[in-house]
Amino acid sequence: MTRAEAAQRIAELREHIHHHDYLYYVEARPEIADAEYDRLIRELRDLEARFPDLITDDSPTQRVAGTPTAVFKPVEHQVAMLSLDNATAADDLREFEARISRALPGARFTYVCEPKIDGLGVALLYARGRFVRGATRGDGRVGEDVTPNLKTIRSIPMVLRGALAAVDEFEVRGEVFMPRAEFAKLNRALEEAGETTFANPRNAAAGAVRQKDPAVTARRPLDIILYHLSRADALAFATHWETLEALRTAGFKTNPRAERCATLDAVIAYCERLESLRDALDYDADGVVVKVDALEHQRRLGSTTHHPRWAIAFKFAGRQASTVIEAIEVGVGKTGILTPVAKLRPVELAGVVIRNVSLHNEDEIRKKDVRVGDTVLIERAGDVIPYVVQVVTAMRPAGAEPFRFPTRCPACGGVAFRPEGEAYWRCMNSGCPAQLKERLRHFGSRRAMDIEHLGEKVIDQLVDRGLVKDFADLYTLTVDQLAGLDRLAEKSAENLARAIGASRTRGLARLLNALGIRLVGERVAQLLASRFGSLEKVAKAPEAELAEVHGVGETIARSVRAFFDDPTNRALIKRLEDVGVVTAEPETDAGPQPLAGKTFVLTGTLTTLTRDAAREAIERRGGRVIGSVSKTTDYVVVGESPGGKADDARRLGVTMLDEKEFLALVEER
Ligand code: IVH
Repeated sequence: MTRAEAAQRIAELREHIHHHDYLYYVEARPEIADAEYDRLIRELRDLEARFPDLITDDSPTQRVAGTPTAVFKPVEHQVAMLSLDNATAADDLREFEARISRALPGARFTYVCEPKIDGLGVALLYARGRFVRGATRGDGRVGEDVTPNLKTIRSIPMVLRGALAAVDEFEVRGEVFMPRAEFAKLNRALEEAGETTFANPRNAAAGAVRQKDPAVTARRPLDIILYHLSRADALAFATHWETLEALRTAGFKTNPRAERCATLDAVIAYCERLESLRDALDYDADGVVVKVDALEHQRRLGSTTHHPRWAIAFKFAGRQASTVIEAIEVGVGKTGILTPVAKLRPVELAGVVIRNVSLHNEDEIRKKDVRVGDTVLIERAGDVIPYVVQVVTAMRPAGAEPFRFPTRCPACGGVAFRPEGEAYWRCMNSGCPAQLKERLRHFGSRRAMDIEHLGEKVIDQLVDRGLVKDFADLYTLTVDQLAGLDRLAEKSAENLARAIGASRTRGLARLLNALGIRLVGERVAQLLASRFGSLEKVAKAPEAELAEVHGVGETIARSVRAFFDDPTNRALIKRLEDVGVVTAEPETDAGPQPLAGKTFVLTGTLTTLTRDAAREAIERRGGRVIGSVSKTTDYVVVGESPGGKADDARRLGVTMLDEKEFLALVEER
């Protein structure tokens, strides 16, 4: 191939890829299979490798490129990135209209309402249709150049289409955010790996955008919605609404919930409607931005040094409250992790009374400088658990001392240790009763061995009286011993004994989960169980073989190996077998796996079986249940009152099964 031919093909490939990126990341309606897309990328990479001088910055292969930077270059915004004036009630909005009517007598206003996404404001610079530079808001006048990081966000187009593609230079502003579902996934993964979690999606997004290494940003699931065009006077749009349409045509993601409102009453209705469904949005929104639609009106209204006069932010009701920290207690988890918890003066927040809030770890306490006696601002956003936003330092009582993290386990007095580079202190005493209690609680929990009646109070006594020193001891307890516990009547003791007995046959997957091996939760336990079939085989598998299992990987494999290499744990397993706990999958289940390789998404409520039962039915036949729909998903099982996943399935053309069809599928096979 000649250089000219290569250049031609490279241009074609880039155009195709840009188009498919747009369909996938902006419109969420892909037209080609992943494999096909990968083939295009591979061909482009190969050609660029052969003709490196043909590589350009806007090539799809250069999304993750550039070396880590020590500092971000400052960027002076040519048009300042202002704040917005706030409204908290309908009357404030009426006042806003009265104000602008006084400023422009005789004008009739229409408005555009948009969700106010709680993310990170950024400004993107385009020149002749190509992405040139992206900057954070900073202090509004000077921001930071985060171009390489923003390039990793796939919904930011590198090359534009339509009228905007021809403009010499313009700037577009928008909000970078982490979708809630992705945020939850990220935090779960961080938690499983023993790393510090993020308090909310905003912090996670801000951290990702300000990463020194773009490769790290690329692994964070960020998205962007654009909402403001500046410095494109040449195009002479008449309204903000037209601007949004032009942005959409150019290939930008704009908010599909943006609406044009002809009257202020319509604006107020929009604000009320959006507030009532704020929890159902894919992202955190803290209000509605109301903008005067006519750009001519915008120009004439102008701005103060602080905010534009033509826009106002209607803020949703607060989900923050302040209260006093009465104590900081440190609890011990099942793997010995010490977690500080603030005991609060009870306070109501968005309909719930909050008494405790986790302070996560030592660094978190130090960073926020949380002290006993402090008044703190706490927040509960959407489904996120409450957290401390900040200390109200002005209200700190005299003599409040910085919190000193204990260097001994508060439960057993054993030595606590914080490994280098880790966020958490751990109690190093493997016989720590608090850890044992937590492990037993987990062992008996519904998704593990499912031992009914094995409550916290019972566990406390079993451990404190020395009746149970490990999981196997549970199975040798007699009804008499149980009846001897405080507040456990004969009948309850019998029930508990029966429940413990019945848990012997829960199966390998539940047992593996129940053992509390670090990084082995329900999912990994399932994978290991179906691959190895018996506890003995898992225990003997070399690390490399464990790591080969799809979804396991090296870190988890190492942790599993470490668990079974420990002589105490090996002895425990032997004892579990001796007391009759079934540690292998029944032979019949190792039969044919008709759903092997098939992926399923479950949504809505099924009437004849629970989610867990449906999952088990799928996994027993070799299928896999995943959390969200993509075009490679094989089936979406749709129950009653399904969520957005059913819409996703319809849009992506994924086969949908109702309950009857699903049952037929798992039974027929
Ligand atoms: S318009 C001159 N629209 O809210 C343009 N801002 O307090 C002014 N924000 O820093 C901004 N969603 O980061 C606008 N649909 C939206 C927005 C929005 C979120 C953020 C933005 C800004 C802050 C203003």
